[in-house]
Amino acid sequence: MSDNQLETIISDRIRQQGRITFCDYMAACLYEPGLGYYTSPGRKVGTAGDFYTSITVHAAFGRVIAREIARMWRSLGQPTDFTLVEAGAGHGRLAGDVMDFLAEQEPDCYVASRLLLVEQEPTLAGAQADLLAAHAAKLGWCSPAQLATLRFSGVLYSNELLDAMPVHRVVMTAEGLREVFVTLQDGQLAEQLDHPSTPALEQYLTRYGTPLLAGQEAEVSLAGLAWLETVAAALERGFVLTIDYGFPKEELYTPRRRQGTLLCYHQHKVEDNPYIRLGQQDITTHINFSALMERGEQLGLQTVWFGEQYRFLLSAGMLDEFEAIESAALSEAEKLKARLTLKRLIMPEGGMGDTFQVLVQSRDVERPQLGCLKGIGL
Ligand SMILES: C[S@@+](CC[C@H](N)C(=O)[O-])C[C@H]1O[C@@H](n2cnc3c(N)ncnc32)[C@H](O)[C@@H]1O
Repeated sequence: MSDNQLETIISDRIRQQGRITFCDYMAACLYEPGLGYYTSPGRKVGTAGDFYTSITVHAAFGRVIAREIARMWRSLGQPTDFTLVEAGAGHGRLAGDVMDFLAEQEPDCYVASRLLLVEQEPTLAGAQADLLAAHAAKLGWCSPAQLATLRFSGVLYSNELLDAMPVHRVVMTAEGLREVFVTLQDGQLAEQLDHPSTPALEQYLTRYGTPLLAGQEAEVSLAGLAWLETVAAALERGFVLTIDYGFPKEELYTPRRRQGTLLCYHQHKVEDNPYIRLGQQDITTHINFSALMERGEQLGLQTVWFGEQYRFLLSAGMLDEFEAIESAALSEAEKLKARLTLKRLIMPEGGMGDTFQVLVQSRDVERPQLGCLKGIGL
């Protein structure tokens, strides 16, 4: 028997059911209460964790997003009741950077705002409350399930939320589409291919994918679509801002990516084996932005802007952040260090600048005036 408690639980589950979908396996690895990667103690993001997100690089990331949020507030006619919702808020660092900026630089927008934090892992609320103590009067919390019951006007934003949702994995074979299941062989976790567990997988690929070649593997995120449906139902008026790594469908399902996009992260090393270190390594996939845009349009969410993170940040205010460094009371060495740190957020060709994409969607907003729509203009 394994000394990994999560592996024992998953193995027992497989013995009872015969096998489980990869999606259920990934959900357990990431979110099994108390034992999953995101639901167990320990730092996940940053130097002491397993990977960096833009949030951990520099507060300028959140400050630029806050500039765009203030423009969204103006585009909505400066409402006095403006709800910000951060989904997948983690420890609350991005929310802190956004609220600090609004309080300092956009006081009218700040006064009108309240902030709701949505996190799958409820115990993070304590860390979020500490980090956001200066904004305590404006804070609220809700679970992902409660999000479905909300109705609000404002902005829902997320960074690296959808890449952390469990996916189904499929393979195209000469006999047709097959799904990856997880079973036990001689007591060890092993993969098994069989007919898909639900027709929704083939329907998803027909609607939001491209034809797969024989031998090609791919991921299908039904959870990502379900999340968008919840968000679309909750948002009465305003914007959805989604930042994540992923591609439009042609690039995501290209035959060049024959093995799909699933990766595991542990102590800043990349692995492709999801059957080791259960609950102790991140498992992640690239997201399908075409699915979000196309399903969004069906749900009344218009695509306002979609593009690389570097374009978004540069057009939404990153240059002002560089200027702020120049006028700050810092030594030349400190300024250089700060400039290089900021550059990581916008560096293209494999850096965070074009690995990450930004999608802005809106409901019931005429002619939004956003920085990203003006373009970089260099
Ligand atoms: C990759 S981490 C990103 C954290 C943070 N946004 C950042 O960029 O550093 C993904 C986070 O999303 C949370 N999460 C996953 N599914 C969620 C859902 N349906 N609703 C809200 N949070 C969710 C996870 O618990 C985890 O904290």
